[in-house]
Amino acid sequence: MSTPGDRADLLVANLSELVTARGAAARGGADLPAEVLPDAAVAVKGGCIVAVGPEDEVRAAWSADEELDGGGGLLVPGFVDAHTHPVFFGTREAEFEQRVAGKTYVEIAQAGGGIRSSLAGVRQASKEELLARLLVRLDRFLELGTTTVECKTGYGLTLADELKCLEVIDAARRMHPVELVPTFLGAHDVPPEFQHDRAAYVDLVVNEMLPRVAESGLAEYCDVFTESHVFGLDESRRIMTAGAELGLGLRLHVDQLTALGGAQLAAELGAASADHLECVSPEGIEALARAGVVPVLCPLVPLFLRQKEEAPARAMIRAGLAPALATDFNPGSCYVQSMPEVLTWAALRYGLSAREALTAATLNAAASLGRAERLGTIEVGKQADLALLDVPNHHHLTYEFGRNPVQVVVKAGEVVYQRADEDLHE
Ligand code: NIG
Ligand code: FE
Repeated sequence: MSTPGDRADLLVANLSELVTARGAAARGGADLPAEVLPDAAVAVKGGCIVAVGPEDEVRAAWSADEELDGGGGLLVPGFVDAHTHPVFFGTREAEFEQRVAGKTYVEIAQAGGGIRSSLAGVRQASKEELLARLLVRLDRFLELGTTTVECKTGYGLTLADELKCLEVIDAARRMHPVELVPTFLGAHDVPPEFQHDRAAYVDLVVNEMLPRVAESGLAEYCDVFTESHVFGLDESRRIMTAGAELGLGLRLHVDQLTALGGAQLAAELGAASADHLECVSPEGIEALARAGVVPVLCPLVPLFLRQKEEAPARAMIRAGLAPALATDFNPGSCYVQSMPEVLTWAALRYGLSAREALTAATLNAAASLGRAERLGTIEVGKQADLALLDVPNHHHLTYEFGRNPVQVVVKAGEVVYQRADEDLHE
């Protein structure tokens, strides 16, 4: 309990609304919508939130060294992007043009494009070159209000190049305020040198890459692109089981382009997350619900790929699942870093309300990354990761798109981004 006159480091006040989910675990079903607090203020001390509530009450209990004037805007927890592939060298805009002209993602991949076309750039690049690119991308995440980002490798696909990418993520996390959660994705594709011996590549991942990655301590999670043209269910099970035995958490790309049954595999393995799920079956949804796996949905990806299937988000919520949202930022299937954009498309494509989308983009995403005790909500005791948006109410989280509404970002109590233009949006 605070006593009158307690001193905080930072007070965030003059807000139209504050929107936050509550708790330290993913919320699903009827508990998905975040709460809206009008005229609230937040006090921060030692990087953590020490008070949240009506501004007059917070002010009565806390004075502060510094005050951040919300300008009548909206305060939300910093966004948590639970699925990205940000360690790459070149972009793949020619593939985008091919899809616009009618080719599919798989057709392009099978013709030598796709993930394989990103390998040469990463393999040839030095650690310094990859780090420089990653840091620019992290700046962009931050200015879009994202304070925590899951980062996959997966464009090296040799032991040395995958370790190089993990080292780049490790270097970046020490230099940049955005919190990074590293995931080893050596099973992103079968590299061309193993094209005629995929079993040998799976052996390499299981017998050499995973043990070295685990020993390095540079990855928290292990992931597989489980898909009919990449790794099948048995190969994925073998890789994931090996990863789990080495102490890595599990995330899986599943049922994105075909209904392979990857959701059931994620459930069987007790994965932290099952990602994509555009083609998931009703049985797959039930399995995820029984196992308490967080579905990580990426609504910009089918849009970017011109894929007609949608992840059945509402059926998942009805089944009690607690969906998270992510960009899936990568050079091939989603060259977009904006969580504000993701929220709008979650509304338009999945029918999520603004309050549902907010929980999915913060608390549930943090839960999928094992960080819901510390991140994802604006509550006393949580780390002060905040984004101030220059919009008049929470409906604008989904209503307005195509413009970055983020004005100020706070990470662990520090103001780490402040937009130069302070004009308020009318
Ligand atoms: O999540 N699905 C696999 N990985 C990415 C695509 C990566 C790429 O095309 O480079 C995805 O969509
Ligand atoms: Fe992905």
